[in-house]
Amino acid sequence: MATPQRKPPLALIVLAAGKGTRFAGKAPKVLVPCLGLPLLDHVRRAAAPLKAEKTLVVVGHEKERVAEWVEKHWPGATTVVQEPQNGTGHAVRLALEAIPAFDGDVVVLCGDVPQVEAADLSGLLAAHRAGAAAATFLTGTTHDPGRLGRVERDGAGHFARVVEARDAPPCVLAIKEFNTGVYVFRTAPLREAVVGLSRANAAKEEYVTDALARIVASGGTVLAVPARDGEALLGVNTPEDLARAHAHLSRRLVALHMAAGVLVADPASVVIEPDVRIAPGARILPFTLVGHGCRIGPDCVVGPFAHLRGGTVLEAGAQIGNFVEVKASRVGKGAKAKHLTYLGDAAVGENANVGCGTITANYDGKNKHRTKIGPAARIGSGTVLVAPVAVGRGAVTGANAVVLARKNVPAGATVVGVPARVLVKDAGKGSLPAPKPKPRAKAKSKKAKAGKARGRTA
Ligand code: UD1
Ligand code: CA
Repeated sequence: MATPQRKPPLALIVLAAGKGTRFAGKAPKVLVPCLGLPLLDHVRRAAAPLKAEKTLVVVGHEKERVAEWVEKHWPGATTVVQEPQNGTGHAVRLALEAIPAFDGDVVVLCGDVPQVEAADLSGLLAAHRAGAAAATFLTGTTHDPGRLGRVERDGAGHFARVVEARDAPPCVLAIKEFNTGVYVFRTAPLREAVVGLSRANAAKEEYVTDALARIVASGGTVLAVPARDGEALLGVNTPEDLARAHAHLSRRLVALHMAAGVLVADPASVVIEPDVRIAPGARILPFTLVGHGCRIGPDCVVGPFAHLRGGTVLEAGAQIGNFVEVKASRVGKGAKAKHLTYLGDAAVGENANVGCGTITANYDGKNKHRTKIGPAARIGSGTVLVAPVAVGRGAVTGANAVVLARKNVPAGATVVGVPARVLVKDAGKGSLPAPKPKPRAKAKSKKAKAGKARGRTA
């Protein structure tokens, strides 16, 4: 039986210095959002389980912005400046120079391949170590790999070299197997192979892919391993690629939620950004976007056509319906906002009902303010709640009421008009406990219940 070998130390190099020439706009490509996170953040998340001893992110184009992001969001990572950007091979060489004493395995990833997953990387390392290879990289296969590097193999199927699309003759362009840009190298052969790389190619750049061929030429083993889902690892070079990556990542996340028991009526039209928690049994109806970090409790119904923005919390049984946008708000148990509403910076109490067309006017042109809607309150259709403002427990606003800032509506009161004024002071509702979302006992008559509640607080 083979003795288990100790795993060599691991370093991670992420290439993020390129310009993204096929992307308009000033933002560096690796910071362009995809499914709510910058491309680079998807790569960071995939690599996190590797627990690399050293993490180096190569920055160049818009280096301040990328370095600032790394500083803020990637603890333990160091940036290496590549100037000018003479290609992926040059970038890797500079990163290795920053860790001169390191020996072990080096994983090299591209900041523009957000589809890469932790499982791809564990598979890559397993193949690399099992094959005792000098270098191992993942390949994909698709009918037209476009501008990606083609993988050439020899007659025996062994890796020969990667040919960049722009340098490839038609017969090589016809190859359907492409380089995903996901590599692991043993440090020593990599250090040798990235010194003196040629720039005699169409891009006049040093290609890291040429390092692979050099390792083969010097007798090293290079494994080109098909990825689990190679077609997914297409990377993002164009706006079309970005849309495809978004669709892929979104499909993958929605599928994970469904596997955990969330009922998604039409997975193709629902987008769920990362870090969302949804209780099993919650229903997400078509054309709904659930933003980064939202929490959705059991038995909630969201959509169709709903937009929950980042950080929204829906407690058990809450319902958010058609054309409702919710931002930085907490919606209490059993509360409902079912039509044409904006809830921003709001706290909605248990079993409150927010009528059609309600708006929390949270922004005064300079600052955002909070709105509080008490338990069991009933907000009439078309109400505007000008924040900061609070509507008390069990209070009612009439249709089209405009409740001005700081003109809080007392518990149990009914207000109407523009600006809203009190019509009924307290109909007894202010002291009512919020009804349970699903009464266990048989409901008593309304009169008896109200009498009992009043009696309790008298
Ligand atoms: C590269 C590979 C190609 C592979 C594809 C996978 C090379 C020469 N080609 O091509 O075989 O199919 O990735 O997606 O490596 N970067 C730097 N410094 C530079 C140039 C690039 O850090 O000087 C970074 C970029 O920011 C990017 C990554 O390296 O994140 C890849 O560079 P890019 O120019 O996009 O290479 P591709 O043409 O996609
Ligand atoms: Ca690329």
